[in-house]
Amino acid sequence: MAQKQGLKPKKILIFASGNGSNFEAIVKHFNSKVFCTQNKQKTGCKRLVEIELVTDNKNAPVIERAKKLDIPYYYVKFEDLYDFLKPKKDEYNLFVLAGYMRILPEKILKLGAWPGTHGQKQNKFINIHPSLLPKFKGKNAIRQAFEANEEKTGVTIHFVEKNVDSGKIIAQKSLPTGKKTLPVLEDAIHKIEHKLYPEIIENLLFKTSVLLFGGGAREHALAQKLSNSPFLDTLYLVNPNDGFKNLGETLELIPNGDSAKDYKDLAKKARALNISMLIVGPENPLFEGITDIFQNEGISVIGANKKWAALEGSKSFAKTFMQKNGIKTASYKILEEKDLTLAHNIKDTLQYFTSKYQALPVIKADGAALGKGVELPETFKKAKFSVNEFLKGKFGKASKKILLEERLFGKEISLVSFWDGKTLVSFPPASDYKRLLDNNKGKNTGGMGAIAPAKISAKEKKQLKEYENALKSALIKEKADFTGIIYSGLILTKNGIYVLEYNMRFGDPETQVLLELLETDLLYIFNKIAEKKLDEIDIKFSQKKASSLVLASKGYPDNPKKGVLIKNLDAAKKYGCKIYFAGVKNSENELVTNGGRVLNIVKSGNYKKKILEDIYKTASDIAFDGKIFRKDIGK
Ligand code: AMP
Ligand code: GLY
Repeated sequence: MAQKQGLKPKKILIFASGNGSNFEAIVKHFNSKVFCTQNKQKTGCKRLVEIELVTDNKNAPVIERAKKLDIPYYYVKFEDLYDFLKPKKDEYNLFVLAGYMRILPEKILKLGAWPGTHGQKQNKFINIHPSLLPKFKGKNAIRQAFEANEEKTGVTIHFVEKNVDSGKIIAQKSLPTGKKTLPVLEDAIHKIEHKLYPEIIENLLFKTSVLLFGGGAREHALAQKLSNSPFLDTLYLVNPNDGFKNLGETLELIPNGDSAKDYKDLAKKARALNISMLIVGPENPLFEGITDIFQNEGISVIGANKKWAALEGSKSFAKTFMQKNGIKTASYKILEEKDLTLAHNIKDTLQYFTSKYQALPVIKADGAALGKGVELPETFKKAKFSVNEFLKGKFGKASKKILLEERLFGKEISLVSFWDGKTLVSFPPASDYKRLLDNNKGKNTGGMGAIAPAKISAKEKKQLKEYENALKSALIKEKADFTGIIYSGLILTKNGIYVLEYNMRFGDPETQVLLELLETDLLYIFNKIAEKKLDEIDIKFSQKKASSLVLASKGYPDNPKKGVLIKNLDAAKKYGCKIYFAGVKNSENELVTNGGRVLNIVKSGNYKKKILEDIYKTASDIAFDGKIFRKDIGK
């Protein structure tokens, strides 16, 4: 559990008919957790979680366990359960089924109806089942998996719905069956149950209030995903755009020219609101040290600290990191402002690249330049011009130092990974369409669309795995002590995988498609990252395909048209697509354009062709003056 403030004691009712080993594990887990009101001695403390037991079996061994553990218990015949529960239902925060051998009728399930804050569909009844649902429902699930010669089986915790073992999945943990005998397998599964169930109950009882920083489509997608989490208490949003601010409570941040002070004030506000986690969308706050400031206030952060944000914020820092650790990246040379006075240095360097690599070099600002500090010149003259422009301060301080880089050729993919300081878990690779126009023509943009998983060959898959291992080893060796995201911008060349860049945040628009593939609860993952226990969980991705298309406003990326009414947004629903808003704002209760990238249309499913058809139908129905979009996403 991430650090939580303002804990209030909770009460749960455990339902069991038999042996009660899960019951005992839960009781023991919470035995050590006490709640003390301030100013009181330890004697004034009480259990953080009060537990009671109800059983339908007079002779159940679980009763002996309850007596031994000093837990109040009720013997209630199944036919009397409804009348027993009805008057008491509001006393409990959660109804925990732990080997209760009955199917609960809807009438009883309704007693667990959950008011739910942001439209979460859940109830107070949860159950644990010894298989990886939806496989092997019903009785003898471990034996069923064993006899089916499954490679792996596991444990599922889920909300209870009227059909057996079918409610929304809360968490799963898998186990390779290997060559285990049935009793050994059963034992191993029970061990997992006894660890997982108490932990999930704790996370459901003491939910996390989250602050999400950023107001684009990436943050809209993150906010949407988080607000479906059963582990979420309240979602707070820093400066969301008007297209998604309804998903949480807004905290306004008006910059005062001193970002450290702004973030300190924001962190204080967050503490006062019992927010225990900050999730950072864009890169600038990371460069400015928002992570360090929030951590000092005792708030967990998903996002690199200042030191490691430099992997994105300083290209030369990133190059050194890669070279030291044997990660392949383009050769480069650095030029600085002083080289302006030595014109031959610039000319010689350009000539050096042209003769050595038979291509003009790529020109990159060393510092952060809003994703615009990269140029791929087509002529020597343009290259010379750009180098001069950069060094003279086209991007201010960020381009007073530049890198000239060997130009690489190949397909680009984005690899977004979670990192907790020792464990790296990556999403499937995604493809981002960076150029403005079809067939990768036109200017570089923030991204005009994305698909996931990216189509790569078996050989490239293997290379990607090797790259991932190399990255993990490098991060461990360099003691990269941050908790968050590392995004590798990769290029698949004929000499293998090279790194073009690192971003220390979720990609935009990649996130909008990658979250479609994520089956494990995102907030559960974030909580584990914050605890530095990412290795403890399985992160599951679906086999589906996902795609996004950006609708931009005419003039993007230089001078997009703003203030234009957006019509027919309902088209998305008609074609089963989601919309994530970026450059929009409210004007007289209607959304108007307010930036270059206006919105993303997203859909996932089994058939890429069908997804793209629906996305493009939606794109053509949504109407605003000056709408532009690429026609070749996914082709
Ligand atoms: P970056 O911000 O470093 O990812 O650069 C933006 C885009 O420029 C990349 O996605 C590539 O399309 C292109 N690019 C950057 N570096 C190189 C390189 N060394 N060779 C070829 N293309 C590059
Ligand atoms: N899609 C590229 C980025 O987020 O920088």
